[in-house]
Amino acid sequence: MAMYNDTVMDHFMNPHNVGEIENADGVGTYGSPVCGDMMKITIKVEDNVITDAKFKTFGCGSAIASSSMATDMLIGKTVEEALALTNKDVLDKLGGLPGPKIHCSVLSEQAIKAAIYDYAQKNGLEYEELKDFDPNAEEDPHDHDDHGEDEE
Ligand code: FES
Repeated sequence: MAMYNDTVMDHFMNPHNVGEIENADGVGTYGSPVCGDMMKITIKVEDNVITDAKFKTFGCGSAIASSSMATDMLIGKTVEEALALTNKDVLDKLGGLPGPKIHCSVLSEQAIKAAIYDYAQKNGLEYEELKDFDPNAEEDPHDHDDHGEDEE
């Protein structure tokens, strides 16, 4: 019945980077059509480096742990490195989430992309990785290959 490892529990109980940056350089929100939960990420960018990142998550514990870890991973990265960050990277760093909760980590990846998209729009920048990014697109609930049904 052990669902969550210690790293996940720690980030859930003591999340890092909670809140909202004032006068943020980029603001991104993403809502999951799977569960209706939402995440907002704000970033500060100086000389193409993300110097600060904060999140607010209106969602479950896995989403909170994912966004805590994701914002930790974001700080200090160049914009290009941040764009390369996937939910799989966040999952690996967390030591994994139970199958039915994998989609929660997708929120952080998409909210990060949305925040960088906003930053790029405000500064007239273009990034190859964002060419097909639609900030209003919804995650396809069927687009997951991991539907572990062994826990309920
Ligand atoms: S159940 Fe909605 S983000 Fe986890």
